[in-house]
Amino acid sequence: MNETEPVPVIAPRGLAGVVVADTAISDVRGAEGVFHYRGHNAVSLATDSTFEDVWHLMLFGSLPDAPARTAFLSQISRISHGDDLQTVLAAVLRADQDPISVLTAVWPLLASRRGMGASYGLGEAQRRDAALELAAIVPTVLAGCAGALPVPSGQGLVADHLTAMTGHDPDAWARRALTAYLILVMDHGFNASTFTARVIASTGAGMAACLTGALGALTGPLHGGAPARALEALDSFSEVSDIEPWVRAELAAGRRLMGFGHAVYRTVDPRSQLLRRLALEQGGPRVELAVAYERVAERVLAELKPGRALHANVELFAAVVMELCGIPRRFMTPTFAMARAVGWSAHALEQAADPKIIRPASRYVGPPLR
Ligand code: ACO
Repeated sequence: MNETEPVPVIAPRGLAGVVVADTAISDVRGAEGVFHYRGHNAVSLATDSTFEDVWHLMLFGSLPDAPARTAFLSQISRISHGDDLQTVLAAVLRADQDPISVLTAVWPLLASRRGMGASYGLGEAQRRDAALELAAIVPTVLAGCAGALPVPSGQGLVADHLTAMTGHDPDAWARRALTAYLILVMDHGFNASTFTARVIASTGAGMAACLTGALGALTGPLHGGAPARALEALDSFSEVSDIEPWVRAELAAGRRLMGFGHAVYRTVDPRSQLLRRLALEQGGPRVELAVAYERVAERVLAELKPGRALHANVELFAAVVMELCGIPRRFMTPTFAMARAVGWSAHALEQAADPKIIRPASRYVGPPLR
């Protein structure tokens, strides 16, 4: 090593606890069980705001006043239903196609048709336009995958998404519950998919590349791919007494319980609390089974993994709430992506303003140089 080379720092596995950037978008306080978006408590936003208003907060830094809201809503509506999007969708859509694969194809195809190249060299306004345009098409793409186009009803993205997913007008509870869910998962610090988006943004690549890469990271079962798997666990219980033997067998086999544990929270996940409350408003045997599963799993995890503080994370009751809303399982992770695309794009914009590329090092542990 010569004198100018920095001394290597060995990061902990998974970069746990390592601060890799400054952000003004969201703050997750794992020990307190609190998170906020730009200073606004996220759980309060989830019960008191619309999806579109919180999107505005993420992208522009403030909740909109009435004129800003009207302008933002008409902008979203205009850009999310362009003719070129219909053309790309028509070329890509096939019956029963996996919505994640469709989205993965549509983002770069549409970006190329709209002449959106690399972010490098673009001004802030151009980058933000790309962020808005690409996040705004997700509900339309998912509606296309559900065979439900055209959907704009003027009632907002959440109502339109529910109509597309279920084929009927949503009731007031479903609107409230899905609004809360989508706001709760819009952003969450430096989770794996957001970090992926920021790494790609740091290279100067375009917004479509950032979102597509982040989507890939989201699909993993340890991240946003967990909700359908959490429901599979519930499917295997006929009654509450089935739960404990199943949980013990899973853990004995070295498998993880989907919908439990979190990289940052060491106390109850505040997202889980609100979603459980919403599920309990509807009630029914499935919700009772989920509540029992949470109670039993937390007790057995505390016994077998002492000192880890493993609780239900957002995904268990997110899955239950989405099921109660009538969202099919194959659309659960895509519905998560519809919200998280807002967070990814805000983070990609923040990262793109910093010209430093994210490029850590690795420690070579293979055979020595011959
Ligand atoms: N089931 C069983 N054991 C678990 C679980 C779980 N759900 N979560 C953590 N553990 C165990 C690990 O096996 C490990 O045990 P060991 O030390 O005996 O090997 C220990 O707890 C380490 O856990 P952490 O360091 O707290 O967890 P990590 O940060 O590595 O992982 C993660 C976090 C990926 C969320 C993990 O808890 C997990 O796999 N959960 C299940 C999948 C899931 O629900 N993902 C959704 C997360 S929320 C989201 O991404 C939106």
